[in-house]
Amino acid sequence: MKELIDRLYEMEQLSREEWKMLLSHRSEETDQYARSLADKVRQKVYGNDIYVRGLIEFTNYCRNDCYYCGIRRSNKNAQRYRLTEDEILFCCQQGYELGFRTFVLQGGEDGYYTDDKMVELIHKIKEKYPDCALTLSVGEKSEETYRAYREAGADRYLLRHETADPAHYGKLHPDSMSCENRKNCLRVLKKLGFQTGAGFMVGSPYQTVDDLVEDFIFLKELNPEMVGIGPFIAHQDTPFREEKSGTLEDTLFYLALLRLMLPHALLPATTALGTIHPKGRELGVKSGANVVMPNLSPVSVRKKYMLYDGKICTGDEAAECRHCLGRRMEMIGCQIVSDRGDYKPGCCERSERNNSR
Ligand code: SAM
Ligand code: FES
Repeated sequence: MKELIDRLYEMEQLSREEWKMLLSHRSEETDQYARSLADKVRQKVYGNDIYVRGLIEFTNYCRNDCYYCGIRRSNKNAQRYRLTEDEILFCCQQGYELGFRTFVLQGGEDGYYTDDKMVELIHKIKEKYPDCALTLSVGEKSEETYRAYREAGADRYLLRHETADPAHYGKLHPDSMSCENRKNCLRVLKKLGFQTGAGFMVGSPYQTVDDLVEDFIFLKELNPEMVGIGPFIAHQDTPFREEKSGTLEDTLFYLALLRLMLPHALLPATTALGTIHPKGRELGVKSGANVVMPNLSPVSVRKKYMLYDGKICTGDEAAECRHCLGRRMEMIGCQIVSDRGDYKPGCCERSERNNSR
């Protein structure tokens, strides 16, 4: 298996058969080998700098009903909230003072935030903080809407594809949602010039090795600037309440493989990873991740944005989270930087981008 990992490192891709082989013949030794190689690749591309994103969870209303998600429409126990524009701007102000230069507005698919409202909000944030990047993560929209967001100044967009296999997708979502539409949204986002983030949950119910093979192949083809992966964790008020969580070992191994396949990608060590293990985020960075996303949402709403049970950092002030993560990164020889933390394209990509201008 080490040869396959070396091959992935050198070629930055594998065939379907090779992926299947690598993902189905795991051992502690090969896992460790991939993770330490990925750690070196991260250092080569991004040094010991870790980028921070201030996460603002601005609404937990959602029109969708994904079977795994705690803020799904059918969860009658969820206490719904929306932040006002002033509250969101206050989160940005606090974040800016703490050194954040990227804000991530994340929420359910909430019809209250019409295109006009979102565009106005994007304009206001970019006007107040022109040196900051703005990332949106508000789900599937039309091309027209994505274009309006982009023209208003949004820089990045996170939309995990969740699983690249349509049959698996169908087991995680109601019929009203489609894998093809989600993938297509990602292609549109890339076309519009967003730094685009895809990703999947590790160990989601019914996930097979073949599904994971499709995830890696899809991600290679899409070539996103960001990839968010984290363990699936059950939420008590969803149909998947009894399902097992994704594991630390699997998440770290896949993070490492992603770093080897997409050496320049921005890869977060996610809150879900920190939830399943007290050192999850540190181990994530040591396996190739280079981004952390402390929470900037007001403490009063944190517990309401409960995507899964046991989510960490729901009682801490923004400053506490920022400093806690700063210390955690220092313990592993890294430092959080006050920087937009844009994607750094590789040399081939740079010339491709210039030629297509
Ligand atoms: N509505 C937006 C969207 O669909 O992209 C953003 C919010 S959505 C809640 C953000 C991500 O949370 C999803 O893409 C999913 O991967 C993750 N998520 C939801 N429920 C989860 C669970 N039970 N365990 C782990 N991750 C979960
Ligand atoms: Fe939130 Fe540690 S990152 S308290």
